[in-house]
Amino acid sequence: MKDTSQKTVWITGASSGIGFSLTQCYLKAGWQVLASARRQGDLTLLLEHEDNLKFIPFDVSDDRQIESVRNLLATYTDHLDCAVLNAGTCEYLDINEEDPDWKMMDRVMSVNFFGLVNSVDVCLPLLKKAPKPHLVGVSSQAVQAAFPQAEAYGASKAAARYFLSSLRMDLKQFNIDVTCLLPGFVDTPLTQKNTFSMPFLMSADEAAKRMYKALQSRPYEFAFPKRLSMMLWMGRHLPKLWLSMLAPKPNDTKTFKK
Ligand SMILES: NC(=O)c1ccc[n+]([C@@H]2O[C@H](COP(=O)([O-])OP(=O)(O)OC[C@H]3O[C@@H](n4cnc5c(N)ncnc54)[C@H](OP(=O)(O)O)[C@@H]3O)[C@@H](O)[C@H]2O)c1
Repeated sequence: MKDTSQKTVWITGASSGIGFSLTQCYLKAGWQVLASARRQGDLTLLLEHEDNLKFIPFDVSDDRQIESVRNLLATYTDHLDCAVLNAGTCEYLDINEEDPDWKMMDRVMSVNFFGLVNSVDVCLPLLKKAPKPHLVGVSSQAVQAAFPQAEAYGASKAAARYFLSSLRMDLKQFNIDVTCLLPGFVDTPLTQKNTFSMPFLMSADEAAKRMYKALQSRPYEFAFPKRLSMMLWMGRHLPKLWLSMLAPKPNDTKTFKK
């Protein structure tokens, strides 16, 4: 017999890193997890053993998939208690190149911003059918102060944060709570290409545990770790000092790998 008290969450970007660890947290807590990404990736083994886990392929940047993904979700559940829209990518701009890759702005925005919009489009009808729905989006602490070479990533995550705050207002009438998560540096394939130092780096499991716990009280925003937030506060309030500390000097070699 179907457990009618069981809650259902849809997690995007579940095939690796934070999304994969979050999937494990929700499964451990007894949720049914509908997991999306382009590939099954790290989910492959788990899918063999977990009846409460289903994989729904979705390229968030492709708006032609919206209707079919929504229909697929509806084959597993008649409502979503929670959606954690976590899929994301990161590319760095290299201004030292003779012909900088400005098209990269499009690529990053199409996943981190328009991918988030497409994902909301997918799940909103099912969230509206839940008794106490919760919509969660993943931005980044990078929005709290500027970083070199992060023109695309930072802008996409700042856009995501604003989109979520505005959505929070418009969804209040439907009793849908909206949370924006702002993680600091987490050790995942996304950051493993970084060559610069990442203060207070934590594992994906630790980050997911903190996120899952924080989400229970449905905050508007949750930025962590706090020590990084304090460092970035300095970046916002002492911008000249921040610039002199972080801006590449003439003849500096590249800060980030591509
Ligand atoms: N790691 C950090 O330090 C950090 C800090 C702040 C915020 N974040 C944010 O946290 C989220 C998760 O990142 P992560 O660090 O866990 O990175 P990750 O390990 O690279 O995971 C990214 C996930 O997003 C999925 N994804 C990427 N492009 C996609 C697309 N077009 N359509 C659907 N899924 C797509 C990937 O799956 P497929 O490739 O299989 O599609 C993967 O499951 C991202 O939004 C990231 O910006 C990360």
